[in-house]
Amino acid sequence: MSERLSVLYNKKPCYDIVFSGSFGELGQELESLECENKRLCIITDSKVDDIYGNSLLDILEGKCRKAVKYVFQDGEASKTLDTVKGIYRFLIEEGFDRRDMLLALGGGVVGDIAGYTAATYLRGIDFIQLPSTLLAQADSSIGGKTGVDFDGYKNMVGAFKMPRLVYMNLALLQTLEERQYFSGFAEIMKHGLIRDAAFYEWLIENMYEICERDLNVLQEMLIRSCTIKKFIVEKDPLEQGDRALLNFGHTIGHAIEKAKNFGLYHGECVALGAVAAAYISWKRELLSMEEYYEVRDMFVPFYLPISVEEIEPQEILRLTKADKKMESGKIRFVLLKKIGKAVIDNSVTDEEILAAINEIYYSEEDAHA
Ligand code: GLY
Repeated sequence: MSERLSVLYNKKPCYDIVFSGSFGELGQELESLECENKRLCIITDSKVDDIYGNSLLDILEGKCRKAVKYVFQDGEASKTLDTVKGIYRFLIEEGFDRRDMLLALGGGVVGDIAGYTAATYLRGIDFIQLPSTLLAQADSSIGGKTGVDFDGYKNMVGAFKMPRLVYMNLALLQTLEERQYFSGFAEIMKHGLIRDAAFYEWLIENMYEICERDLNVLQEMLIRSCTIKKFIVEKDPLEQGDRALLNFGHTIGHAIEKAKNFGLYHGECVALGAVAAAYISWKRELLSMEEYYEVRDMFVPFYLPISVEEIEPQEILRLTKADKKMESGKIRFVLLKKIGKAVIDNSVTDEEILAAINEIYYSEEDAHA
């Protein structure tokens, strides 16, 4: 049974998030977006295309004027302006104009690239998010952040562009490879930690069903998680203030992601960054020691890392300071005041960051201790 949430922008309904167990209702959704005279272009990556590309094209058949598909190589390495240029060329060749629409079918990389293309092609055309990973369903498909990496710096170039619809086929989560699935779970855990202690408790109570990917539990989990994100992005859509709370775990997380040359998944880096931020929160006596260890250890049953090997702590500090989450030369850090309540703090020192990085660093010495 599908459910939906409506997301507001400037206090007005902007787009719906549909939570469904299949693509069965997508045709109807496209009809209500009046797609019959539009050209539609599916943007997807090689991995997702192999599994769902053609069946989605079949769904679009008869629902629009013309349906085409653009496929790029899967992986973070494709999240560049070169890929966007390739899509521009294809859209020009296919005669896409401003009334036409893009459909982002895939994970976070696809959604960010397709969204950025939609934000900039002909100064903006509509797009729909069809997120296929847990990370994209829980986080990146909602709130209109789009963009690409630049010279290895994550999401350095981008735009805010709200989708016309986010349609989640939750059944896709059941076929995700294990590591990919649990990586996305880090963002869900983040939502509980920053905003909703009861949801955090619910995640722990439903650990078994979440690991088993029970469809009803997945639906409840995503509705609750997306409700938290919806609440935050509605209040601060362009990240002038509290939306930055969603960056909990991302400050050090992004630095690790870059230092590891994207060899770790985004959510894995977020889990490491969340442990580091919780550590600083403990050291500042915002969290108790018990709360810190609880937060840290709760990532473990979901197969997320709480320590990392082969990093250079000074290099992670340097990359953390080079990340874009800076305000007047200060790092905009997100700390936990308690479980379920995060705060933005501009006063975290290099020493505190280094101590937190050392806390999650699993070194040779640890191995021999
Ligand atoms: N992923 C963080 C945000 O959407 O603001």
